[in-house]
Amino acid sequence: MKKFTFGNPEKLVPSKYCDGFNYIETEVKYPETNFKFKKTKSGCVLEFPIEDDCRIFGFGLQLKRFEHKYQKLKLAVNADPVMPIGESHAPVPFFVTNKGYGMFFDTARYAEFYCGKMKNNGINKESKSGGGTSTDELYAKREESDVIMTVSIPVAEGIDVYVIEGETITDIVSQYNMLSGGGCDVPEWGLGVMYRCFTGWGEDGIKKTADYFRENNIPCDIIGLEPGWQTGAYPCTYKPSDKFPNFADMVKYLTDRNFHVNLWEHAFTSTKSEIHDDLIPYSGDYLVWGGLVPDFATEEAKKIFADYHREKITSLGIDGFKLDECDSSDNTGSWSFPLCAEFPSGLDGEQYHSLFGMLYAKTIMQALDNGPTLSQVRQMGALAASYPFGLYSDLYDHKDFIRGVTTAPFSGLLWSPEFRDAKTKDECLRRLQAVVFSVQCLVNAWYYDGIPWVGFDCEDEVRELFNTRKKLVPMLKKAFEEYKSTGKPPVRALVMDYTDDAETYNIDDEWLFCNDLLVAPIPANTGDERKVYLPTNSKWVDYFTGEPVESGWFEVSTKGIPVYKRI
Ligand code: GAL
Repeated sequence: MKKFTFGNPEKLVPSKYCDGFNYIETEVKYPETNFKFKKTKSGCVLEFPIEDDCRIFGFGLQLKRFEHKYQKLKLAVNADPVMPIGESHAPVPFFVTNKGYGMFFDTARYAEFYCGKMKNNGINKESKSGGGTSTDELYAKREESDVIMTVSIPVAEGIDVYVIEGETITDIVSQYNMLSGGGCDVPEWGLGVMYRCFTGWGEDGIKKTADYFRENNIPCDIIGLEPGWQTGAYPCTYKPSDKFPNFADMVKYLTDRNFHVNLWEHAFTSTKSEIHDDLIPYSGDYLVWGGLVPDFATEEAKKIFADYHREKITSLGIDGFKLDECDSSDNTGSWSFPLCAEFPSGLDGEQYHSLFGMLYAKTIMQALDNGPTLSQVRQMGALAASYPFGLYSDLYDHKDFIRGVTTAPFSGLLWSPEFRDAKTKDECLRRLQAVVFSVQCLVNAWYYDGIPWVGFDCEDEVRELFNTRKKLVPMLKKAFEEYKSTGKPPVRALVMDYTDDAETYNIDDEWLFCNDLLVAPIPANTGDERKVYLPTNSKWVDYFTGEPVESGWFEVSTKGIPVYKRI
């Protein structure tokens, strides 16, 4: 891996805030002369050629598109990323190719990537199209070749680019993850089932839910509480509401029964919070929902927030959090701060949006005395592999959720295709199948006044699925240990391990799980059939039956989830 510096890079960039940042320079084959750098009126631009048969993956959690050749992406934080334009809960300025290299741009700006454009060099070659008048001929687009990638970075007068080389995408991504200090530490219980309860319930409802799992022998390791646990949630007070008169006793009730407890919150701090006044000098110059936006890039805000959480919350036995809303949105109800917002650390709104999740996660890790935990966060960015936080979304299209499982690992991110509720039993089970074979096994029933599968008469199937998860946990824990020491992600798109196999370049609905499982979930509401591809240079057996399965493309039909094991 080698860093190339162009112009005068900004100082407030992701690597500055990444505690485990560990750059070790090695020589790369990629020639520096490939890069063309220039300053512009609005920032700076870097151009470099990309191969005609190059495929481009990454840019963080991308729910709407898997491969990005020829596309334009703007890496803006957005809580409702409904179009394939690069916006995301967790955009990351890092891409990988099938050509043996990837590049990380160390910026917290909303950079724009044009992934394949022809330049006007004054010698435009003869067009292949044109000449005809039929509709087909008129609309035949000229094939593009000799294309370049153009990266525009607003505001900045320079940029550090890390070029990383490797034989497979898994090799390249592993090095990127090691650059940030390696994958996260995760306890076994964090990999078990997390069930988030209806926000309207008080102590009794929560205890009853815990009893339901134990009495019915359905595995569950973590109980999550949603906004209703606080006296005020939008903005947050971080104080138990009167529905929880004996909050500490309730937490003990749960921990005595071997549950871990996870609390929902966000960072926008209410005037009714005990830490509000102390945070005033260390907050941004805009309010969100009338709450302060603490500047977690200052040691002071971090300490005030973490100390309060340690004294009042984690000391009760809470060992996980759901850090919501830190992808704050301009587009849905405008609960955000502008890009021009100013923060005491010197960050502006644009940079703070890109770094918010990571800085918030660091603050909460301080409250947790560094874990152990596997928590949740709704915004992340660059160099985030060592934070034990899974991403999630309010969107719910099942195919998009499945695609998220395959795109997040290109950029050191963990993503859960959470189950919330369903219209039919089939939808319920299909969604749960994908959840069980993902990094964080999450049921988020926050708006469902009940247990979402109970009405569908499928408790036995759910028990079996969660027991399957229980069996997977030791294997997953080992995969996380490898993630920590080598950077190899525990879940990977097929193209990451099989980078030479062109069949994998568009497969956004199958993934490798741990070392040698291949998961091909059937999306909800699509029937019981799907096409599966098993890479041809490996041998496979059915995970559940042990029967050999021919590699290549084939059709499966099942009520269950197709899973294969590489032998
Ligand atoms: C959303 C979050 C949901 C749920 C809800 C509670 O922002 O994505 O999962 O926690 O808030 O208000």
